[in-house]
Amino acid sequence: MIIIKTPEEIELIARAGEIVAQCQKLLVDEVKPGMTTLELDKLTEQCILDLGGVPAFKGYRNYPNSLCASINEEVVHGIPSKRVLKDGDIIGLDVGAIVEGFYGDGAVTVAVGEVPTSIQTLIRVTREALHKGLEQAVVGNRLSDVSFAIQTHVEKHGYSVVRDFVGHGIGRQLHEEPQVPNYGRPGQGPRLKSGMTLAIEPMVNMGGSGVKILQDGWTAVTCDRSLSAHFEHTITIEANGPPRILTGCV
Ligand code: MF3
Ligand code: CO
Repeated sequence: MIIIKTPEEIELIARAGEIVAQCQKLLVDEVKPGMTTLELDKLTEQCILDLGGVPAFKGYRNYPNSLCASINEEVVHGIPSKRVLKDGDIIGLDVGAIVEGFYGDGAVTVAVGEVPTSIQTLIRVTREALHKGLEQAVVGNRLSDVSFAIQTHVEKHGYSVVRDFVGHGIGRQLHEEPQVPNYGRPGQGPRLKSGMTLAIEPMVNMGGSGVKILQDGWTAVTCDRSLSAHFEHTITIEANGPPRILTGCV
C-alpha cells in the first residue's frame, strides 16, 4: 500500500530533507584528498544532530554509521572507514535524517580533487537522469514513466542502470512502498497521486549493470569494477506541476 501523506506530514519530511541537504552541502564543501570517510561520517552525524535531526541510517538493520560513503566502483552503502580519499576518486555521499518520526533521504556524487572529463560526464549524466525522472513525477503519470525516463537518459550515454537496488516510498519508514526501479517500460505500475512521497535514486555504472555485495555485508560494488555514480532526492508529488524536492538542490 502506498501511503499518501498529509500536508503536516510532508512538512516533517521536508524538515528532515532540509537537514539532509544542509549536511550534503557541508560534505561537498569539506571533501578533499587526504580525508578519511570516517571523518566525513563524523561531520555528517554532528551536522544532523546540530540541526535537530536523528541520523536515519545508524542502526538501521545494524548499519554502523550515519553516512554511506561509496568510492569509485562502490555503488551504494559504502561503510565509512580509515580509507584515505585520493585525488581523482569519486564519492557518493548518502545521508538520511529523521525529524519527529519522518525520514528524509538523499545522495550526491562528487569528485575528490580533479577527475578526467569522462568521469565528470558520468556524474553529470547520473544527476541529469535523476532530473529526467523527476520531470515525469507528476499526477496522472504512472510510476514506471519515471523509471523509463531515467533508464533512457542513462543508456543514451552508453552507461547502465543498476537493477539490484531501487528507489522507494519514504515517510514514517525509510523504505515504504512503492519500489521505484531505475529501468522499465513506460506506462506501468501505480498512477502517481498528490501527497505521495518518493526517494528517487538512480545508480549508474560506466560498465555493466551487475553489482555484488562485499564481505562486510553492505558495500555494493560493480562486478566489472567500473565506476558508479548515485544521486537521490526525496520528493513529493504535487497536485499541479513538477514535484517538490524535499532534499534541497545540492
Ligand atoms: N539511501 C539508501 C537507501 O535508501 C540508504 C540506506 S543505508 C542504510 O537505501 F544503512 F540505512 F540501509
Ligand atoms: Co534511498
